[in-house]
Amino acid sequence: MEKIRTAVVGCGMISYIYIKNFRHLFSVIDLVGICDNNAQNAREKSELFNVPVMTMDEIKADPEIRLVVNLTGPAAHYPVIRELLEAGKNVFTEKMLCADFEQGKELVALAKEKGLYLGVAPDTFLGAGLQTARLLIDRGMIGEVTSARAAVNRSQALNSEIFRFIRNPGGGFAYDVGVYYVTALLSLLGPVRKVTGFVSESREHEARILRAGDFGKTWKTADSNLYAGSLLFESGAAATLHLDGESIDEEQSSLVIYGTEGILKLGDPNSFNGSVRLIRNNAPETVMPFTHGFTGTPLYGPETPADYGQHRGVGAAVMAWAMIENRPHRASADLGLHTMEILHGLDISSKEEKVYHMTTTFTQPIPLPTGYTDQILGGIRCDAEGSLVNG
Ligand SMILES: NC(=O)c1ccc[n+]([C@@H]2O[C@H](COP(=O)([O-])OP(=O)(O)OC[C@H]3O[C@@H](n4cnc5c(N)ncnc54)[C@H](O)[C@@H]3O)[C@@H](O)[C@H]2O)c1
Repeated sequence: MEKIRTAVVGCGMISYIYIKNFRHLFSVIDLVGICDNNAQNAREKSELFNVPVMTMDEIKADPEIRLVVNLTGPAAHYPVIRELLEAGKNVFTEKMLCADFEQGKELVALAKEKGLYLGVAPDTFLGAGLQTARLLIDRGMIGEVTSARAAVNRSQALNSEIFRFIRNPGGGFAYDVGVYYVTALLSLLGPVRKVTGFVSESREHEARILRAGDFGKTWKTADSNLYAGSLLFESGAAATLHLDGESIDEEQSSLVIYGTEGILKLGDPNSFNGSVRLIRNNAPETVMPFTHGFTGTPLYGPETPADYGQHRGVGAAVMAWAMIENRPHRASADLGLHTMEILHGLDISSKEEKVYHMTTTFTQPIPLPTGYTDQILGGIRCDAEGSLVNG
């Protein structure tokens, strides 16, 4: 079976589950090297997963490495992705594509010019929850979609004590968390025509976690953490977006799709296993069984804190299968750029007090086929990978 020789750049927190899944879950990925400009981070993951450490120059110079997965923080995305594309590498990157819309456009144009694949997380829309929702919508279970509501809160300031990249550009609540909600809406409803919104400045935060090492210091995150927006989809559906990263850490997630014949209440899109509840004909809501694999079930026995990312990496695997078959892939750069433009558009709309008209679009990713399960014959390699193989 053809495999895609792959390297990972960025060996921080989220790399644990990516590297683990590349080593044990997605057979299409042949992980041959990992790289980090923090030598200790690279060494730790290298010893844990028995993967050689490489430098960026070695990765770029190795003609056998066809795919590089970028897991650096958002502020490093633009230079790292640009360098890799210029070296002729296909790139899959964690979210966001980068921290600036104009730079995002440049990266997408460069990938197209060079005929390279560029893929962008979040890939949670490929999980069982959102794929089941897509199937129900496509089969007309809620009739014509009229509107949607997406809302989530957190204390982004508190989180920025632990996840340092959140303090920098590209780490704001909309970019770090709102992106899961926007991507979920886009995967279910298609492209957006225009947006309007209010975005408020981030507030000052005083560090209060003793062990995080900044106790008593104050800072503001570089990006705004509070967005209230409206989106009008090309389909005519309307949606509201409420992202409050100045709230408390107890997260409340709400994602609801309304239609002429029913309502879908969906679980957290920042996971692979968000529940799917269907309401029809004034009947009580029904929890729908998942129709797809990638259900977020712990794959490696009792879940450790670092395993929480579940099926992360599926977006890169879907891209690797597309590379083998020379076809478009689902977690595309166009989808990532459109997501980014929506958040950028809300910033512009708020600043200039006007409706923002979208300039980018994307092809709605085709749904994954149903019927594949997470585990087969009790093994870790899952049957669900079969759902990524064809078109
Ligand atoms: N941590 C999470 O829970 C989580 C979840 C989903 C997605 N993500 C995304 O994953 C990415 C990484 O997040 P993280 O939490 O692992 O961050 P992190 O800060 O823990 O790790 C980033 C790593 O990248 C390395 N790095 C930075 N610039 C580099 C460069 N130019 N070359 C090589 N290495 C470089 C850093 O040394 C660090 O080890 C971000 O885009 C984030 O949005 C994180």
